[in-house]
Amino acid sequence: MTHILAIDQGTTSSRAIVFDAGLRPVASAQKEFPQHFPASGWVEHDPSDLWVSVAGVARAAVEKAGLHAGDIAAIGITNQRETTLIWDRRTGKPLHRAIVWQDRRTAGLCDRLKAEGHEPVIAARTGLLLDPYFSGTKLGWLLDNIDGARDRAKRGELAFGTVDSWLIWNLTGGRVHATDATNAARTLLYNIVENRWDAEICALLDIPMALLPEVRDCAGDYGTTRADLFGREIPILGVAGDQQAATVGQACFAPGMMKSTYGTGCFALLNTGEKMVASKNRLLSTIAYRLDGRTTYALEGSIFIAGAVVQWLRDGLKIIRHAAETQPLAEAADPAQELLLVPAFTGLGAPYWRPECRGAVFGLTRNSGPAEFARAALESVGFQTRDLLEAMRADWPDAAQGVLRVDGGMAASDWTMQFLADILGAPVDRPRVTETTALGAGYLAGLGAGLCPSPEEFARDWALERRFEPIMAEAVREARYARWQRAVQATIAAAG
Ligand code: G3P
Repeated sequence: MTHILAIDQGTTSSRAIVFDAGLRPVASAQKEFPQHFPASGWVEHDPSDLWVSVAGVARAAVEKAGLHAGDIAAIGITNQRETTLIWDRRTGKPLHRAIVWQDRRTAGLCDRLKAEGHEPVIAARTGLLLDPYFSGTKLGWLLDNIDGARDRAKRGELAFGTVDSWLIWNLTGGRVHATDATNAARTLLYNIVENRWDAEICALLDIPMALLPEVRDCAGDYGTTRADLFGREIPILGVAGDQQAATVGQACFAPGMMKSTYGTGCFALLNTGEKMVASKNRLLSTIAYRLDGRTTYALEGSIFIAGAVVQWLRDGLKIIRHAAETQPLAEAADPAQELLLVPAFTGLGAPYWRPECRGAVFGLTRNSGPAEFARAALESVGFQTRDLLEAMRADWPDAAQGVLRVDGGMAASDWTMQFLADILGAPVDRPRVTETTALGAGYLAGLGAGLCPSPEEFARDWALERRFEPIMAEAVREARYARWQRAVQATIAAAG
């Protein structure tokens, strides 16, 4: 048994990658699935789409690698975080579609809880803020809106889970109802200081604790798959939320190390070591990973729209057909124009946390065209990352010297990464393996199976593909960033 199967269940697609014992990718498979938008600001996934796509790509990747189940030592799972599911423990049937992390339907409830003064206590215990992003209020909504659900939950008939729990439940044929510490840390219900579900917060949100999964280590034992799925029972030995898995895959094991992943959104995590650091600048505190019962914490900045802005150029504005067209278009933009886009399509995340905001464009002229929009879209990702870095520098002064390790689809764009380094005024490092999310999950499973080296050795093997050094003049950088900040304030003001 020489290989590891990593499953990466993301917001728009499910992927599986087979790694060999040296953590080199051998084969992969990917499948997109439908998104459901039943009302403005609502986003749902069909739970069976999540499970069926995962089972399909997992089997396809093993087959493509020319391997059999007997060659797979362990499975690692990583997943879109916060997305909320509820199902019947007896039948395994979901009671509702999954409410996706981007969904804003509980903004009103969050406002009410904030107005009642609950945010400081919740932040101190969970590291999170009162925003509809997190699972807790989404679960409350499900219990309020599905007939009889709360009573059934109290009787222990129902199970709640983030996507990892849903997959583990299905992979094990309903034998294991568990999650890992990083996914638990995104629910708003988990006390990350004491590492336990928080009974008082559950009571505040009227969430019966009988719903909750057991919380385990990231390189822990999550049972074995049903034998009929792969022809043999395979142990599940690694689980982490996708941004935390990317932190592991980027080998950010030392305090002060930082990574930023450019997927649908952008999520920057700064390792803060074994003590939770409370942010004074509206960042989140979260669990980076928990190994052998020892928790490593991180500060996180979450931006909701990064790669999604390129999807908008393609599907909304229809000015490109493929994402790869964005960079050449941006390069052709008129340098004299200063089009600026604040892509607050689903509100603003960190450090503003304004769910009611919507996007805005500044500096339009009669000459503004597709090229200027493409450049503004790519630059918006850099500006938003600078916002995060400013907050991190204020919370953790050492981050000022920090190099940012990048990954995810947009990290492939040299132009975008150069602009990022320029606007941050800091080096940006792109690793040789940019599949860091799956790599992190694979590494955790390999650690659980005793196949992979210690974190220190794994970190030594991390290889740089290219470093982007800032070349923009300081005065230009600061003038451009100041203009961005004014544009964000105007966007917030326009939301009323
Ligand atoms: O918190 C949401 C995040 O986990 C989603 O990641 O890569 O699916 O956009 P991604």
